[in-house]
Amino acid sequence: MRKSQMNDALNSVFRPKSVAIVGASRFPGKIGYEILRNLKEYGYKGKIYPVNPAADKILGIKCYHNVLEVPGSIDLAIISIPAKFVPPVIDQLAEKGTKAAVVISSGFSEVGNRELEEDLIRRARRGGIRIIGPNVFGVLYSPTRLNATFGPRDVRPGKIAFITQSGALGIALMGWTVTEKIGLSAVVSVGNKADVDDADLLSWFREDENTKVVLIYMEGVVDGRRFLKEARLTTKVKPIIVLKAGRSKKGMAAASSHTGSMAGADVVYSASFKQAGVLRAENLEQAFDWAIAFSAERFPKGNKVVIITNGGGVGVMATDSCEAAGLEVFDPPEDLKREFKKYMPEFGSAKNPIDLTGMATHEEFRGAMRSAIKHKAVDCIIALYCETAVSDPIKIAEVIKEVFDLSNKPITATMIGGERVNEAMAFLKENGVPVYPDTERAVSAMAALVRWMEKRSL
Ligand code: COA
Repeated sequence: MRKSQMNDALNSVFRPKSVAIVGASRFPGKIGYEILRNLKEYGYKGKIYPVNPAADKILGIKCYHNVLEVPGSIDLAIISIPAKFVPPVIDQLAEKGTKAAVVISSGFSEVGNRELEEDLIRRARRGGIRIIGPNVFGVLYSPTRLNATFGPRDVRPGKIAFITQSGALGIALMGWTVTEKIGLSAVVSVGNKADVDDADLLSWFREDENTKVVLIYMEGVVDGRRFLKEARLTTKVKPIIVLKAGRSKKGMAAASSHTGSMAGADVVYSASFKQAGVLRAENLEQAFDWAIAFSAERFPKGNKVVIITNGGGVGVMATDSCEAAGLEVFDPPEDLKREFKKYMPEFGSAKNPIDLTGMATHEEFRGAMRSAIKHKAVDCIIALYCETAVSDPIKIAEVIKEVFDLSNKPITATMIGGERVNEAMAFLKENGVPVYPDTERAVSAMAALVRWMEKRSL
């Protein structure tokens, strides 16, 4: 019962036909104004109802003085008014039959104001409303062009659902994904998690065809058992990457005062994540590196990797990283070696790592990479390119994309060099090819794919 009500409510959150912004402000720069502007300018096609007691129109959209004046039904309410005024608005929303509300307002349990939060949740329960927050920056779902946040507006659509317990970090990362050309299906700021929590969201994203990987920044979970149950079910069908902060004692204490959540012993989290098949990232960079590789939707059948490079040194570095990460840099069978030899001079190496030598151009990369994706002994390919005067980084990137498009095996790439390499990498990112500026990151992303596949088949 709770579960289907929750799913209905989350459908209202991500696919609402109408959204009310309670506390839509007349003044640019105020949170209630910026949320309305994002909603309008990101291209949301449903009905938008700004609610403000003193305004008739904001951003050209007709305003209502209170929720009860809104003529149609309200699927989703975004509430951005001072905390103490929120609970009565919940009662009005309940009267309107609203199923979900995102409470932006701070000033609840995170500052010790538990009674106010309990009052909010009590009224929401009574009225059949599910609450995201309080103390959040909002919700974004790119398939419905819903940007009900006061974060950046130009978020790229993609396949990563990003759930974050930290507000400022979440907003900053939204902006960062834009410059890094990383696509997101959703961003959910969960704040105090007084009602909707990570477990509920996992249950929804598990079924969401637009989401291929879930990335969670968390400081603590409210109900560990339920989280693990939903996580176990989800990792069977799509990967979950968790970045869990508060590893140290002081970090844990900081986490509990930040969002008011319980932060248990870190080793317990690690062990539980592992059991549930959740991938725990060490840091933000790694979390997104892995998510990018999962977004490419090519999965390895095993851990046998072929490294193809024009630089002996990077080949050796990648081999070391592969060994540490559990990827097997295997000796290719003779027929495959013969194939590789066609694309290198006498002094090249057809033993893994495949060294096409510094003479290699895009033609040699194309030949060797195509041979690798065709051969059944190969589970995954890591392509490493160092800029040389005899090769054109852009053409190399075009070949990597061409082979990536033909391949159902995962490919990660590293390109190292100057300006032209930056351009080439931007082209690959733009086209969804997982590319990283150093070998270790390309290896780590590939290893995450292998680990998830191994866990999933258990
Ligand atoms: N219904 C509808 N509108 C109402 C209202 C009500 N019951 N009560 C007030 N409003 C209007 C106000 O008139 C105002 O409109 P105006 O700017 O055109 O005058 C607007 O709603 C906002 O109210 P205001 O009192 O000016 O509050 P504020 O904008 O200064 O602050 C919050 C509101 C929610 C932003 C603030 O209380 C807060 O919590 N800030 C922190 C948010 C945050 O950081 N969240 C976590 C992020 S991770």
